Amino acid sequence: MNSRLKGKKIVITGASSGIGEKIAYLVAEQGAYPILLARSYDQLEKIAQNIKEKYHIDCLFYKLDVRDTENVKDVFEDILRNIDTIDVLVNNAG
Ligand SMILES: NC(=O)c1ccc[n+]([C@@H]2O[C@H](COP(=O)([O-])OP(=O)(O)OC[C@H]3O[C@@H](n4cnc5c(N)ncnc54)[C@H](OP(=O)(O)O)[C@@H]3O)[C@@H](O)[C@H]2O)c1
Repeated sequence: MNSRLKGKKIVITGASSGIGEKIAYLVAEQGAYPILLARSYDQLEKIAQNIKEKYHIDCLFYKLDVRDTENVKDVFEDILRNIDTIDVLVNNAG
């Protein structure tokens, strides 16, 4: 296990498919806490459930459209109400 990632809170935009989804599983495998963001809420819910079953990690997930500045502000405020800090931002949504 990569001790550099263990316990880190890692926000991933575009986490509902493709590279972002893969990163979510990889960081969970390393003992980090992925925080999943994308527009497809149902898909994020499924990924969070898979991560819980496979790695016993509870993921936060939020519906986010990165083009909507107010939505970005609200979601990040909400994240920071739930966790003390964000260690890593993977700004992957293209
Ligand atoms: N695949 C490659 O070969 C490759 C190569 C070079 C660079 N990249 C870059 O790597 C990133 C991911 O690529 P990918 O191939 O994994 O793409 P993808 O499969 O199309 O995934 C894109 C992700 O971004 C999310 N997304 C798209 N628009 C969004 C928006 N407005 N707000 C929030 N989330 C949004 C999508 O989820 P929702 O639709 O649910 O929002 C999805 O989770 C992109 O930035 C891409 O430009 C990819």
